[in-house]
Amino acid sequence: MALIAPSVLSANFLTLGKDCEMINQSKADWFHLDVMDGRFVPNISFGPMVIEFIRSSTKKVCDVHLMIEEPEKYVDAFKKAGADNLTIHYEACRHLHRNIQQIKNAGMKAGIALNPHTPVDFLKDILHDIDLVCMMSVNPGFGGQYFIPHTLVKIKQLREMISERLLDVKIEVDGGVTLENAQAIIDAGADVLVAGNTVFKSANPMETIAALKRI
Ligand code: DX5
Ligand code: ZN
Repeated sequence: MALIAPSVLSANFLTLGKDCEMINQSKADWFHLDVMDGRFVPNISFGPMVIEFIRSSTKKVCDVHLMIEEPEKYVDAFKKAGADNLTIHYEACRHLHRNIQQIKNAGMKAGIALNPHTPVDFLKDILHDIDLVCMMSVNPGFGGQYFIPHTLVKIKQLREMISERLLDVKIEVDGGVTLENAQAIIDAGADVLVAGNTVFKSANPMETIAALKRI
């Protein structure tokens, strides 16, 4: 059974507390929190301040996905805000190994996100140092985009790399996950499904989370 991580990016920010409560009451496992800086991606979302409020509203895992340049400057701020998992982009880090150590030393689980064009092979010398790979199945920056089918091949390759090395690294799939494609994504080897629009634009978000959980 996959873990389900609703993406708060698709929530209604005018009534954010209500949406957080819905996630709390639901079968969701994690809160997925997307931070965008308008530089690494062509969109700006929210930062540590908003995450601190969300943190205070839930006991569930706060899974923070940084789509920002120079993430090393903000590791402590996100730790203070209450992040449990901190994921940084492979494409945003010149000293990825150092940045991963920094996250772990701060007491968080460390993740690496891969853009659709970045080969999974690039992780082979760092896979044993991380807890999570966030496989982007859309180009990062916006909710509500279509799933890129080639991601399924990448998930299978990564699953093999992880099993060969007997590692305990979770594969999270982020972008365009729907009730229709979730089974194929899980079959390919995903452990965690992020879902934004599929949850928040549905008539009954709590039931949609339960339906994803049943897959
Ligand atoms: C995209 C974000 C995703 C996004 C997913 O850059 O990383 O987490 O919120 O939204 P959906 O599920 O609508 O594609
Ligand atoms: Zn994300």
